[in-house]
Amino acid sequence: MSATGARFPTLRLRRLRSSPAIRDLVRETWLRPEMFVLPLFVVPGEGVKDEIPSMPGQFRWSVDRIAEPAAEALELGLKSLILFGVPEAKDARGSDADIDDGIVQRALRVLAEQVPDILRITDVCLCEYTDHGHCGLIRDEDVDNDPTLVRLAQEALSHVRAGAQVIAPSDMMDGRVAAIRMALDDSGHASIPILSYAAKYCSGYYGPFRDAADSAPSFGDRTTYQMDPANGREALREVDEDIAEGADMIMVKPALAYLDVVREVRRSWDGPLFAYNVSGEYAMVKAAAERGWIDERRVAMENLLSIARAGADGILTYHALDAARWLKDG
Ligand code: PBG
Ligand code: ZN
Repeated sequence: MSATGARFPTLRLRRLRSSPAIRDLVRETWLRPEMFVLPLFVVPGEGVKDEIPSMPGQFRWSVDRIAEPAAEALELGLKSLILFGVPEAKDARGSDADIDDGIVQRALRVLAEQVPDILRITDVCLCEYTDHGHCGLIRDEDVDNDPTLVRLAQEALSHVRAGAQVIAPSDMMDGRVAAIRMALDDSGHASIPILSYAAKYCSGYYGPFRDAADSAPSFGDRTTYQMDPANGREALREVDEDIAEGADMIMVKPALAYLDVVREVRRSWDGPLFAYNVSGEYAMVKAAAERGWIDERRVAMENLLSIARAGADGILTYHALDAARWLKDG
């Protein structure tokens, strides 16, 4: 376009930057609190509000206090949250993932009762519930795909029965969207949408989350199921597959080091697209800001804006409450 358009001195791009009003008039990307999804960690115990050391400003909440951050979020204009559970007990098959009085199930009931207007999304995976910390059932030192699908479907169904309104599988097993869709449809929950972590990379940026959720693998790593950070085109195959299996919404994760993937997926998928601004991305901003090396507000908002500019409709982010506050303050 610029090759055939006007040139300096006729063209002066600074004309459209000369005042706040004109900058706002021509601004291409706007952030809104409604586009942020707040991640929340729920843990056993009572009266717990425990700050996560590697994620300053983020807390692990007990069920009896989980409504506090949810109510604050709603007040600031957020419309949705995603729940992660740390169970009482862990075993090889992640038994606590689909019990009726599990940690996420109990939190869902409290939220439905006390803050009904905030949308309840749940992360569906087994790594928080297994004693080995992997996202599925183990056979011969590796995650066994197809038997894991059965457990994931049971977990999803259990969440929905307890009040989950959107199911977000994060395990990266092949076929999980179809397995969950079928389990929900067969039990009368055809109207519950699936937000698939479709292109989820095997990333070092999940470190602080694994401290918070106590979910680091006890042996090996997640390279046999999460994606290789070297692969961009493969993300489109993952996305195509999940859409074919019935995913309603698609997610790319992490966000900042994968904005090329966000952009590519945006070009091929017209439905709702999310990106997860993950724990390590948050921790880096907080750590540098604490040292006075960067301006937290400026950098966090610039990061969120870049994710939206790349093409994400919504962003899962630990900055959600602060960002909503900053948007309010103007
Ligand atoms: C569970 C899950 C993880 C995250 C979201 N769901 C951890 C992992 O895959 O190891 C990471 C979120 C974050 O880092 O903020 N599979
Ligand atoms: Zn997992």
